[in-house]
Amino acid sequence: MAPLANSKKRIAVIAGDGIGQEVIPQALKAMKASGADLEISEFDWGADRYLRDGMTVPPDGFAMLARDFDAILAGAFGDPRVKTNIHAKEILLGMRFQMDLYVNLRPVRLLDAELCPLKGVQPKDVDFVVVRENTEGVYTDAGGVFKRGTLDEIAIQEDINTRKGVERIIRYAFDYCERNKKLDGSPRRRVLMSDKSNAMTHAGGLWQRVFKEVSGEHPQIEAQHMYVDALCMQMVRDPRPFDVIVTNNMFGDIVTDLAAGLQGGLGMAASGNIHPGKTSMFEPVHGSAPPIAGKNIANPFGAILTAAMMLAHLGFTRESEKIEAAVLAAVRRKKTTQDIGGGLGTREAGEWIAEETSRH
Ligand code: NAI
Ligand code: MG
Repeated sequence: MAPLANSKKRIAVIAGDGIGQEVIPQALKAMKASGADLEISEFDWGADRYLRDGMTVPPDGFAMLARDFDAILAGAFGDPRVKTNIHAKEILLGMRFQMDLYVNLRPVRLLDAELCPLKGVQPKDVDFVVVRENTEGVYTDAGGVFKRGTLDEIAIQEDINTRKGVERIIRYAFDYCERNKKLDGSPRRRVLMSDKSNAMTHAGGLWQRVFKEVSGEHPQIEAQHMYVDALCMQMVRDPRPFDVIVTNNMFGDIVTDLAAGLQGGLGMAASGNIHPGKTSMFEPVHGSAPPIAGKNIANPFGAILTAAMMLAHLGFTRESEKIEAAVLAAVRRKKTTQDIGGGLGTREAGEWIAEETSRH
């Protein structure tokens, strides 16, 4: 699936807004220090550019990304000065929807027991991945408002689930389970589908039927189901049984913020927006965090681990492992930002990682 790293890869970088501007430069330093053969092109799409000249994405922007680049590294989009959030919607959801990046892959891994708010949980106990559907569901923003602003107002938000969309994300989850090992080298064994089919019977029914069909083709993989509310409870009570979780766009968004809490917070969580075989986009799970932006305190590790995930996707396995090892060393030695217990600034933590990465 991942192309071989026998040639230079072209990376488009869109740092975006808020702390995206601070964490992405640290990810770039780590990528450079890893020795991966990359050609980097930076784009200024984001709130500043939008406020300056009204541009969110240039005409042909998504086609250009797909044509001219092997992968995209993005920061975050969202700025209090843009009340409608139109630029974020057009850039971020634009990439996901128009480039058809139907998999949002969010690994949930605990690097050090100290980062987890749960008692007695070790790194080996938290090593699962959430496969979130990324192009449908309520994020299509289909619907409308009728009699707006009156006492008779009606708001309808549609949840779009297509047979094709549900089937391809469930298939990806089973393929991922088959092809990927846990960090300790043991095979992955289980795919859990989560929905709310007891209340949302139409969409849930489709997910249930497709899951049954696809799991039938993978008898060696254990297929499980949980309602999403029960999943949240179980994730906090005991995260150990989880392996591969597949779910829709909104539930995936919500459970991965919860799961980020198990790993040390939003500052530690990485993600990929993937369409196998096409130009894919990688971004930290967190947003632009306006309250902490511009203060050199944002944790850059989510962005740095995202860069490592992108390198692995491009076939730079060794380079990716070097960066991950450096982040693990930093966490153990408290060379981190304040949110996870260290005393370094964003830049200083990023520099420590680059230095450590280049030593191996
Ligand atoms: P957020 O993830 O930006 O921040 C929530 C809080 O988490 C922050 O205030 C901060 O306390 C903490 N946090 C997040 N990342 C951190 C880091 N790297 N280091 C240390 N602490 C960190 O979510 P929020 O506040 O809901 O959204 C802020 C803006 O970002 C909004 O405009 C939203 O639409 C946008 N957003 C964009 C996303 C994206 O581009 N993928 C994802 C989520 C939100
Ligand atoms: Mg989210």
